[in-house]
Amino acid sequence: MTENPFTSLFRYGVDAPGFVASTSALGAACALTAAARPFRGRAAVAALGAGLLAQAGIHLHTTLRGKLRVWERELDALELRGDERLLDVGCGRGAVLIGAARRLPRGRAVGVDLWATKDQSGNTPAATLANATAAGVRDRIEVHTADVTELPFPEADFDLVTSALVIHNIPTAAARLRAVDEALRVLRPGGRLLLADISPMVRRYAAHLGAGTVRPLGPAYWYGGPWLSVSMLELRKPEGLRG
Ligand SMILES: C[S@@+](CC[C@H](N)C(=O)[O-])C[C@H]1O[C@@H](n2cnc3c(N)ncnc32)[C@H](O)[C@@H]1O
Repeated sequence: MTENPFTSLFRYGVDAPGFVASTSALGAACALTAAARPFRGRAAVAALGAGLLAQAGIHLHTTLRGKLRVWERELDALELRGDERLLDVGCGRGAVLIGAARRLPRGRAVGVDLWATKDQSGNTPAATLANATAAGVRDRIEVHTADVTELPFPEADFDLVTSALVIHNIPTAAARLRAVDEALRVLRPGGRLLLADISPMVRRYAAHLGAGTVRPLGPAYWYGGPWLSVSMLELRKPEGLRG
């Protein structure tokens, strides 16, 4: 059966749905007010409305299309053997987890999340597993309910750890750094970490670890504009380093 294109567009949900809704509503209110009648400052209100609507449109493009394309490129660049064990920290509805599982025909893709619907619309383990089934990778995927600051896995359990737009959601700086340490703890020596997040945050994670490279992921991963851009921290865990 052919899937409804609308369903497939929204398969992985909308990131920060409340932010998109409020930006769109405010933008539309400004545009309608400016269109209704002449008044002093009308041009400024119209420009504000157009700016807010454009910001909401860019955000939607990133969450529905842009980030998926960026992660396709990033996962391809890893040149996986296909038998690796990967952990996606804060997997949500599986945009990265399922992309990774497609490249792991003999491996395992494990996701953990707390399923916050303020961070991603329709966020549930059932939605992630349904997406995995639709992508034909259900048998390679498992999901767990867990906090990324306290991962329920032993040290050095994974060949790769990925994370996309998760850690900035953690309320305190100390807990965010704990999540970064946890991601590194469960990675085996020689394994690779790919951590995408809001750019200034990523620079702080890299400074905390004292390792890795940080690079911007470009306009396809802007949440509304360059003021909310995303960067990638990439590192290979040094051999012999524990925890
Ligand atoms: C913007 S969504 C991104 C989801 C997915 N990585 C993606 O790129 O589509 C952020 C995710 O982080 C999860 N999250 C936030 N804080 C978390 C925490 N402390 N532990 C586990 N997951 C968390 C949310 O539930 C949500 O699924």
